[in-house]
Amino acid sequence: MTARPAPSEQPRPEADGGRGVPAHVGIIMDGNGRWASRHGLPRAIGHERGVEALRRTVKAAPKLGLQYLTVYSFSTENWRRPVAEVSALFALLKTFINRDLDQLIKEGVKVSVFGTRKGLPEEINTLLERAERETRHNTAFNLGIAFNYGGREEITRATRAIAQDVKAGRLDPENIDEAAIAARLDTAAFPDPDLIIRTGEESRLSNFLIWQSAYAELVFMDVLWPEFGEAGLEQALSVFASRERRFGGLKSGAG
Ligand code: IPE
Ligand code: IPE
Ligand code: MG
Repeated sequence: MTARPAPSEQPRPEADGGRGVPAHVGIIMDGNGRWASRHGLPRAIGHERGVEALRRTVKAAPKLGLQYLTVYSFSTENWRRPVAEVSALFALLKTFINRDLDQLIKEGVKVSVFGTRKGLPEEINTLLERAERETRHNTAFNLGIAFNYGGREEITRATRAIAQDVKAGRLDPENIDEAAIAARLDTAAFPDPDLIIRTGEESRLSNFLIWQSAYAELVFMDVLWPEFGEAGLEQALSVFASRERRFGGLKSGAG
């Protein structure tokens, strides 16, 4: 979120991809509108069904061994949509937090919000802050909500924070390294995503976690987001398990 304390450059959590199960999964929840039109329904209904899919997925994620899940709910580019659509998306976030926060607290889910608060209605910001505050001591599972989030906007803010630290004499430009940048991103407390899933028949990142996904496995699924749930997540995880990650090195056992 916008106002962040000066980041401590402590080591960030490591993903344990070695188990064959991703520690952190990012999901681009796409296809609500198309799901609705294919069923002859207004787009808003597609978004409503999308919240149900989100609920199913958040429930399934810890069961399937994930520790972190980040969902893309509203992008900095989604402001290009008609006002009624933007309002419908905001209303859904309200429904999700109002209805599900107690359950998330009960299940030990810690909510973190990624993105900028600038331009969002006060009511939404208050709700997002509440979700973070009331879950901050939870440790069973981590849910990142990317809301009014854009990877370029996030990197721009991190760059500004670095410039301010340099200007104030807190940071030597010689010490600007990848860790210094990662520590100033909204996702600083999360490991990089091991797997990014996108539903909705499109194969692009649309500005989601563009720094963090440098070595993520990408799985694009034809299913539309309202149809997603435990089975879809399992399917993506089995694709992930079949991938060989090399991080620029050589196939294990080669040479
Ligand atoms: C995803 O569904 C929800 C958000 C982008 C917030 P869309 O609304 O993009 O649905 P399609 O892509 O038009 O089908
Ligand atoms: C990506 O979906 C954003 C979210 C899921 C929040 P979009 O529907 O906005 O992406 P594009 O416009 O097809 O790239
Ligand atoms: Mg879309």
